[in-house]
Amino acid sequence: MSRSVMDRLKDKVCIITGAGSGIGRASALMFASEGGTVVVTDINAQTAETVAHDITTAGGQAIALAVDVGDAGRLEDMVQTTVKQFGRIDVLYNNALLVNADYVMRDLDLLKLDPEVLYAHVRVNVLGGVLASKLALPHMLEQGGGSIIFTSSGSSLGGDVTAFSYGASKAMLNWYVQAIAASFGKQGVRSNAILPGPIQTPSMKAWATPEMDAAFMEVLNAPRLGEPDDIAALAVFLASDESRYVNGVLYRVDGGMSCTVPFINVTRKALASFTAPPETT
Ligand SMILES: NC(=O)c1ccc[n+]([C@@H]2O[C@H](COP(=O)([O-])OP(=O)(O)OC[C@H]3O[C@@H](n4cnc5c(N)ncnc54)[C@H](O)[C@@H]3O)[C@@H](O)[C@H]2O)c1
Repeated sequence: MSRSVMDRLKDKVCIITGAGSGIGRASALMFASEGGTVVVTDINAQTAETVAHDITTAGGQAIALAVDVGDAGRLEDMVQTTVKQFGRIDVLYNNALLVNADYVMRDLDLLKLDPEVLYAHVRVNVLGGVLASKLALPHMLEQGGGSIIFTSSGSSLGGDVTAFSYGASKAMLNWYVQAIAASFGKQGVRSNAILPGPIQTPSMKAWATPEMDAAFMEVLNAPRLGEPDDIAALAVFLASDESRYVNGVLYRVDGGMSCTVPFINVTRKALASFTAPPETT
């Protein structure tokens, strides 16, 4: 019998990283509202606590853990604590990203590429999720299955004129998403990634100017900018058994931003300039 839409994650123990804000927070709340038990982790202990508290006061199940995904010891503790407390790991959602304003400013010019900035992005954005997967996988394999989800980025699929270390780290992450899918799919562990376009989270709001938001609206094939819940909804699907035959997929969730030929707005303007043909009698 199929499950109701409110219990798609019933009996599932789900770890989410970077869950104190933005997409991770929205996912934690939505996972819990679908009956999942959520291990809310973030480098910021306070925000993780707040999200876990919001879940439990709404009647859901959650605990909070302070976890810097760039610290292998904390990842080990995250996995051990989850297994000790709940006996299993059904879902690992690797969502955290490096947040560092100084590194953003040192990553604006390819001619000044700073290896320290690149390594920092790889340590958090790539290794953070890959090492967490390495630690969670033995438990998933023993259980006979599990779902690993990554938040990658639309930036991983194309060239850019800035954020070189960020984009490269997400492109590298895509490879691991598919390598994990290939390595463990036959044993029931699935690995998929969500590649968001611009989503209105604290990180994005801190970075995007009103001019950039207007420019995003021009290239989106959607009536509004993206919200964290737009990503969380797909994460719930990937965490649930509804996606049981989905493995190794990189999902672009970008309001249709990448579905057109690049010169679509030129075509739109040209079409708008055409005058209607005169009516014939
Ligand atoms: N918002 C967008 O437009 C957008 C677009 C593409 C991809 N993404 C991806 O979505 C994911 C979530 O981003 P967001 O926009 O919700 O950001 P956000 O800033 O709202 O949330 C990121 C969270 O990660 C936490 N964090 C930072 N460093 C950490 C670390 N070392 N260990 C654990 N937690 C850490 C922060 O404390 C914060 O709570 C990221 O992987 C990001 O690359 C976002």
